[in-house]
Amino acid sequence: MLSRQSVISLAILQLWTNWIASALAQQTFFPSAVPLAVRTPTSNSWLNTTNGSNPMTTFPTFWNAHHALAWVGFIKVDGLTYPWLGGATAPTSTWIETQVTPTQTILTVQAGPMLLNVTFLSPIEPSDWGRQSFPFAYVYLDGTATDGLPHSVQLYSDISGDWVSNNVGTGIQWSTTKTSNTVFHQVGSTSPTSVFGDVAEDSVAYHAISSGYLNLVSIVGTDQGLRAQFTAPGEGFTLTSDLAGQSGNVRGSDGNAPVFAHAMDLGNTTNISSIAWAVGVVRDPIVTFSGVPRRAYYWSQYATIGDAIDDFIGDFPTARTRALALDQKILQDARAISQEYADLISLGARQAMAGFEITLSTFPNGSFDFSDVKAFMKDVGNSQRVNPVEVIYAALPAYMYLDPNITGVLLEPLLEYQNSSNYTNPYAAPDLGPGPFPAVPGNPSSSNAAYGIENSGNMLILVLAHARSTGDGSLIGKYYNLLKQWADYLVSNALIPGNQHSADARDGVLVQSHANLTNLALKGIIGIQAMAEVSQIMGQGADAQDYAASATSLMQSWVNLTSVSGHLRWTYDETTFGLMYNLLADKLLQLNLVPASVYTAESTTLSDNPVQGPFGFPLSSDNTSAARSDWTLFSAAAAPDKTTRDLLITAVRNHASSNVTAGTFPTLYDVQTGLVQASPNTFSSPAQGAMFSLLALNVANQTIVVPSTTSTSPTGLSSAKSKAKSHTGAIAGGVIAGLAALLLVGSLVIFLRRRARKDRSANDDFEAPRPYQNPVTEQSDGAAVGPQPSRTFGSSVPSSKAALISEGKFSPRPLSATSSQHAPSHQLPSSGPRLSVSRVTDDLRSEVERLRQEFQQLRADQSIPLDAPPEYQ
Ligand SMILES: *[C@@H]1O[C@H](CO)[C@@H](O)[C@H](O)[C@H]1NC(C)=O
Ligand SMILES: *[C@@H]1O[C@H](CO)[C@@H](O)[C@H](O)[C@H]1NC(C)=O
Ligand SMILES: *[C@@H]1O[C@H](CO)[C@@H](O)[C@H](O)[C@H]1NC(C)=O
Ligand SMILES: *[C@@H]1O[C@H](CO)[C@@H](O)[C@H](O)[C@H]1NC(C)=O
Ligand SMILES: *[C@@H]1O[C@H](CO)[C@@H](O)[C@H](O)[C@H]1NC(C)=O
Ligand SMILES: *[C@@H]1O[C@H](CO)[C@@H](O)[C@H](O)[C@H]1NC(C)=O
Ligand SMILES: *[C@@H]1O[C@H](CO)[C@@H](O)[C@H](O)[C@H]1NC(C)=O
Ligand SMILES: *[C@@H]1O[C@H](CO)[C@@H](O)[C@H](O)[C@H]1NC(C)=O
Ligand SMILES: *[C@@H]1O[C@H](CO)[C@@H](O)[C@H](O)[C@H]1NC(C)=O
Ligand SMILES: *[C@@H]1O[C@H](CO)[C@@H](O)[C@H](O)[C@H]1NC(C)=O
Repeated sequence: MLSRQSVISLAILQLWTNWIASALAQQTFFPSAVPLAVRTPTSNSWLNTTNGSNPMTTFPTFWNAHHALAWVGFIKVDGLTYPWLGGATAPTSTWIETQVTPTQTILTVQAGPMLLNVTFLSPIEPSDWGRQSFPFAYVYLDGTATDGLPHSVQLYSDISGDWVSNNVGTGIQWSTTKTSNTVFHQVGSTSPTSVFGDVAEDSVAYHAISSGYLNLVSIVGTDQGLRAQFTAPGEGFTLTSDLAGQSGNVRGSDGNAPVFAHAMDLGNTTNISSIAWAVGVVRDPIVTFSGVPRRAYYWSQYATIGDAIDDFIGDFPTARTRALALDQKILQDARAISQEYADLISLGARQAMAGFEITLSTFPNGSFDFSDVKAFMKDVGNSQRVNPVEVIYAALPAYMYLDPNITGVLLEPLLEYQNSSNYTNPYAAPDLGPGPFPAVPGNPSSSNAAYGIENSGNMLILVLAHARSTGDGSLIGKYYNLLKQWADYLVSNALIPGNQHSADARDGVLVQSHANLTNLALKGIIGIQAMAEVSQIMGQGADAQDYAASATSLMQSWVNLTSVSGHLRWTYDETTFGLMYNLLADKLLQLNLVPASVYTAESTTLSDNPVQGPFGFPLSSDNTSAARSDWTLFSAAAAPDKTTRDLLITAVRNHASSNVTAGTFPTLYDVQTGLVQASPNTFSSPAQGAMFSLLALNVANQTIVVPSTTSTSPTGLSSAKSKAKSHTGAIAGGVIAGLAALLLVGSLVIFLRRRARKDRSANDDFEAPRPYQNPVTEQSDGAAVGPQPSRTFGSSVPSSKAALISEGKFSPRPLSATSSQHAPSHQLPSSGPRLSVSRVTDDLRSEVERLRQEFQQLRADQSIPLDAPPEYQ
């Protein structure tokens, strides 16, 4: 008999469950694929949710939607197993709905009596480049028994070697490590190569979980072996490895693929509370630029990958809180436009932030050069090009809104390369070369002349947008003469583009057959006005006047050539039309160069447009079946009236929410059918950062300061001349004083953190990382794989194993759990003994944590980034 108290709590639980069911937001947005773990161009997994698919039984895929990534999740309830990801077991679970927020994808699933939320969280960490560059994502489970009764619950998750190679025949090697608070598996190729297409053949995949969970089993075995053991009918589970003693294999050679699993038994329970796993795909180094290999930013904060994973796992509750707060802020801003707009932002945010890698170079002794941050973008969905300028331009609105300094670190390598003697063209380059990413050869080709206006205009607009949104005038100070050269090129060429192409010609479908593109000329003229502002910021008044005069006069001519009886033409000499999307640059930079009559004419042109399809407006009359989501959103943000704006947003949202045609949020599709072209398929392009166009319009101007020391321009503008401020004064002085105080605190934190890490490494017998070794290293103990230098794993793996063995939780053979190990639940996870971490380190850690919190508080109060560059020490 149940006690009175438990009857009451059951009743409350029942009410609560009903409330949840009714409170579940009804799904109204139906993308044909949803992001799962989307952090970088190569740590990028999605779930097919096209109509007719069952999200519970579909394997996730890489962003290209054809490379399957085995990632399987099961829940066993009262002895019956239900999939929550990638599985195919009977009885099957019931998928209820999928919700997408800017940082999360939530699958709601009924698994027998348990109602589950399966949440995939890919953090977006504005202004925290250590965290932003760490290519890991969380998946966590919340659940409740809909009948309010306790049930026997076990959970299981695994990934396979598919994560590190395009080819099922590639050999893989693996190991399992336990650190102070984490157990993780890692798997890499036995023949890593940095020449690859989509899935990085030089990557190492990780599957990690907190070691604090009770009755946790972390094991490597074959897919058929482990999954069959877990799903065998009956409460609990017993897992025994059929790969015991092995640490390498050729996948699938015998029809069995090794999988890397973490499973646990929750015993009898009525609810599941945020049980989290982490997955990540790591490459190291990221690229070699200008002869120097570069590592992801987060390596500057951790001695080993184990430390980084520990921090990521330990940070889960706060990371989730940050993500929820960021989601709330973004969605609130976006819903002020419309719910449809909020849907587009939700689907595009992770994609834009996963388009690039933030890197640092190192000194010969392995320490990091914080004055040399550069980001590298892959032209995901289109090509293997590196830092494609038109994609950075398309994604600019997302970076302006989320973290405007990202624009600067993406531009820096482009500017540095083109400022070197390796580049002699008078116009800007389209990229840092055709790659294939991660190769960064540079692009000195004179055939880039075909895109001279496009790229020179883009670069000038981007440089000014970066300075305005951050207050950082260092790029302007450093590259003033280069920028001037491009502006001069535009003065001579922009108005009459002749046969020059816009970047859209790169997309295959959209090869322009027409000369004199008006939208291209517009970009060039706006670029000249941007240069006038840049000159003003530099204190170069005469230049500023000259460029402003040119821009104004060219603008008048452009208006004459472009507007005909209240409509805008797409080319000067024909009755053509198109989305005049470069108008957005005039608005984003608040140039007021383009007369209001042009905006009105654009609106008229669009509303009179006879060829819109169910999925929107064609980009231009050059190809009336091809629509571009990014440029459509640029046009929406530039629209002078809400009717036009919402018409354009609805058009793009119709496609984003149509699950009839496949694709991971593509930028280019057929306006009538919604179909995507075969190649390039434009899947998962960071260009979807354009979804933020409307929000970027509200990003405030900052007071721009050009540091006097940054002027290294080749023609020797004197540093006295280059020392210029724009709209500064007392405010800047105050900001700088505040900054100095914060930097002091920041330096202390960094110093203490470093000391803490140094102590910890010494204690753990870890080696400091040695840069630029091949990510997947020689086998040591048959187990060492990883982007960390081999010696780190070589030395840490055995000591970790020893520690695990001493805890009685790990045997030299992979673990097997028997029912006797399944203690009843309703206990807090044990934290478990730490691995040889001295008290001194702990004290330092808590001190660091305290300082960190203080610093974060200060940062929150004053919007100062956490990771202050240490050269200010
Ligand atoms: C596809 O979209 C329709 C609505 O258009 C929806 O009813 C259906 O559940 C969606 N399917 C999936 C797998 O999301
Ligand atoms: C989705 O598929 C179901 C059946 O599989 C079908 O009835 C429905 O019309 C489809 N929805 C769309 C939007 O195609
Ligand atoms: C997605 O699922 C649908 C329905 O199961 C299937 O027809 C389609 O081929 C899948 N697409 C991809 C890219 O896997
Ligand atoms: C951008 O970077 C500069 C220089 O490091 C810093 O002062 C500024 O606060 C950063 N802005 C944001 C929004 O993070
Ligand atoms: C599942 O997510 C929904 C929102 O999508 C929320 O209302 C509900 O409380 C969540 N359920 C659990 C058990 O956390
Ligand atoms: C769970 O509850 C069932 C039925 O009440 C009981 O037989 C079983 O022993 C319990 N399991 C655990 C692990 O407590
Ligand atoms: C310029 O070219 C030289 C020779 O190919 C190369 O070593 C150097 O790294 C290049 N510099 C840049 C900035 O790309
Ligand atoms: C471009 O337009 C100008 C001015 O109308 C014209 O003189 C020129 O012939 C056009 N160029 C081409 C290639 O059509
Ligand atoms: C624009 O056209 C008007 C009327 O046709 C003419 O008066 C004016 O001079 C033209 N302006 C330019 C800059 O071409
Ligand atoms: C931003 O700066 C530009 C250039 O100084 C100025 O024209 C514009 O009015 C400013 N906008 C705001 C909102 O302060």
